[in-house]
Amino acid sequence: SQTVGRDADGVLTVAGLPVTALAEEFGTPAYLLDEADFRARARAWREAFGVGADVYYAGKAFLSKAVVRWLHEEGLGLDVCSSGELAVALAAGMPGERIALHGNNKSAEELELAVKAGVGHIVLDSCQEIERLARTAEAHGVRQPVLIRVTVGVEAHTHEFIATAHEDQKFGLSLAGGAAAEAVRRTLAQPALELRGLHSHIGSQIFDTAGFEVAARRVVGLLAEVRDEHGVELPEIDLGGGLGIAYTSEDDPREPAEIAASLDAIVRRECAAVGLAVPRLSVEPGRAIVGPTACTLYRVGTVKPLAGLRSYVSVDGGMSDNIRTALYDAEYSVALASRTSTAEPMLVRVVGKHCESGDILVKDAFLPADLAPGDLLAVPATGAYCRSMASNYNHALRPPVVAVREGAARVILRRETEEDLLRLDIG
Ligand code: LLP
Repeated sequence: SQTVGRDADGVLTVAGLPVTALAEEFGTPAYLLDEADFRARARAWREAFGVGADVYYAGKAFLSKAVVRWLHEEGLGLDVCSSGELAVALAAGMPGERIALHGNNKSAEELELAVKAGVGHIVLDSCQEIERLARTAEAHGVRQPVLIRVTVGVEAHTHEFIATAHEDQKFGLSLAGGAAAEAVRRTLAQPALELRGLHSHIGSQIFDTAGFEVAARRVVGLLAEVRDEHGVELPEIDLGGGLGIAYTSEDDPREPAEIAASLDAIVRRECAAVGLAVPRLSVEPGRAIVGPTACTLYRVGTVKPLAGLRSYVSVDGGMSDNIRTALYDAEYSVALASRTSTAEPMLVRVVGKHCESGDILVKDAFLPADLAPGDLLAVPATGAYCRSMASNYNHALRPPVVAVREGAARVILRRETEEDLLRLDIG
């Protein structure tokens, strides 16, 4: 995780920098992202999967030009799922062939942009899209590499909103229901599409490798069916992202090396069983790379004791910079960052400044009883799906992302200003 410590005054440091100085310079709330940790995690994934596989970082977790450059330097590719994400990737110099495009309803413009950018593959998510993309590729005189997203029917044990491989949800083409096989047939019939393989993503914040193994087995099973029916051996499979991280000390995440070894073993075994050559494997981790690398720094505004219950600690951000607690019932921890204290612990709920009671950042935590306005709090593990899902609710200004590295800090995504908001409001 982030390189954190305490200086001689008891101030929390991130990559050697005291958060009091960072708050002074950059204001609060602010996301503090540890560049060395990000790079180390990206590299760990790259090395765990080795040269025979590809790692596409899932840009939806957090995307900025700096991050794209780091990923490119560390040898990863990038998974994007909108023209906005694609624009950032291209602006930062990620080569088209290292980019994969996802989405269950890509627009005609998005497909065209992707084809023109020469993206490495587009993941098809419906039969209508097969036709649509084929026409786009033809119009540009391109044979576009594609994968087909297959719903493998795995019940991943995660929040319903982020589980994606059970049958009754919007993504992918059902393996059991035959839609995947039909999509393979239709794609192979399109000369402008080059079917490279199959894709599966079973969900997010998953701790158990078993779901990935079942998915891998079923995807390889379909590869064998494709060979038997069409006489083609598709050369690639992508098993998506979804590896969980530790939000609190209760979570026990798997390491990339562990997941790589188990996927590699299962794919090899299943392929051997049906007499297929081992396809090239790819994965799309987002949260597991960026999640642990950032914390959010807030300043306490009020502390309101609620007799017999808990104290409500209000900070200067909230559900506009981290909606995950409100949306998924996510668990976070929190620490007093601007000093240490020997005061007794008190039960708190850390809340934001938005005008609704569901605006909760940390549901239950203990903080020192002498907590006071002006204190700084740090919420760890906010690198993934916090800035990327941030909103302007109540006209909140989305916080900056400050990259810290070896005792130096720089803004990689600046704080929004009221002018930014007013510029959109044309009266
Ligand atoms: N690949 C595909 C096709 C995906 O849909 C996703 C995530 C990923 C890869 C990356 O998954 P990761 O490794 O980051 O778990 N907003 C939710 C998470 C939604 C994930 C959507 N797709 C959250 O805050 O938990």
